[in-house]
Amino acid sequence: MRRFWRQTAIQKLTTWQLNGFMETHSELIAVIGNTGKTGHRVVDRLQQQGRVVRPLGRSTHIPFDWDEPETWEPALRGVGRAYVTFAPDLALAGAPERVEALARVAAASGVGQIVLLSGRGEPEAELAEQKVTEVLPCTKIVRSSFFMQNFSEGAWAQDVQSGVVALPETSVREPFIDLDDLADIVVHALTERVPTPGLYEVTGPQLLTFAEAIEEIAQTSGRSVEYVPVPLDGFVKAANEGGVPAEIVDLLAYLFGEVMDGRNEHVTNTIESVLGRPARTIGAFAADASRAGVWARGDAA
Ligand SMILES: NC(=O)c1ccc[n+]([C@@H]2O[C@H](COP(=O)([O-])OP(=O)(O)OC[C@H]3O[C@@H](n4cnc5c(N)ncnc54)[C@H](OP(=O)(O)O)[C@@H]3O)[C@@H](O)[C@H]2O)c1
Repeated sequence: MRRFWRQTAIQKLTTWQLNGFMETHSELIAVIGNTGKTGHRVVDRLQQQGRVVRPLGRSTHIPFDWDEPETWEPALRGVGRAYVTFAPDLALAGAPERVEALARVAAASGVGQIVLLSGRGEPEAELAEQKVTEVLPCTKIVRSSFFMQNFSEGAWAQDVQSGVVALPETSVREPFIDLDDLADIVVHALTERVPTPGLYEVTGPQLLTFAEAIEEIAQTSGRSVEYVPVPLDGFVKAANEGGVPAEIVDLLAYLFGEVMDGRNEHVTNTIESVLGRPARTIGAFAADASRAGVWARGDAA
């Protein structure tokens, strides 16, 4: 009997929270960074589910620009929940303050929940998580490991295509994640009937060194791809001389020089426990990317 009353009370609370959220917040979901590696996957999935979505970036119908705060309020007007990806990276100086400022605008505009993309083992990103959560307590953090798609859509796609991936030397293992898994997690968070705060720490299923990851991509795709480990100093010098933007060089130096000290050398089971299926392996990722021709067509970017 006591159990029955407890369950009924929980159901009432849930219904109250649900009604409360639905009454106060619209069903419109904004996706900041709509053309990004995670953003476009999240937009596609939400649209396939028939959700009302507002893609947001510098070129969207309603523009959103991190460098132009006056665009934030119009972009978030009427939005109930928002997926927030900060560009170029949450670990950069000034990022926590900017996402905090955005959260304040979001809260004032009636946004009830932010789902924030974050990086593992990065104190600056954790500060950003904290600041956003202080403003909007219903924030859900998706704290991710390195993306597999960095090799197919991101920084190192052209290197894989050219057959030589030169990176700062490290023997630390990383649990690379497939962004199709990450996007499913984000969509799960954005579409919970009763939005809940919290943290999803997401990784792929295997710990791999960069050498092993690139070897797996080479074997699966049947391409000749060589991993060239470069001392960090030499990497930074070459990147600077090659015209890589200074903040990106600093970011890579920070990631390879500090964050990759073994602190992230463990996998989580978040994908499996939330989605009810195993996380995708780098072999599966490489097979799909290869089939799609991303390294063959000459359009890897
Ligand atoms: N790469 C990784 O392995 C990794 C791992 C963990 C976490 N993260 C986090 O992932 C985030 C980046 O996400 P992503 O890799 O999906 O992004 P991405 O592929 O680099 O795309 C960046 C997105 O942001 C938009 N953008 C760029 N500059 C902008 C500006 N000034 N104002 C508004 N929008 C802007 C771009 O759209 P337009 O150019 O069309 O405006 C694009 O949609 C970072 O915060 C990083 O901390 C990355």
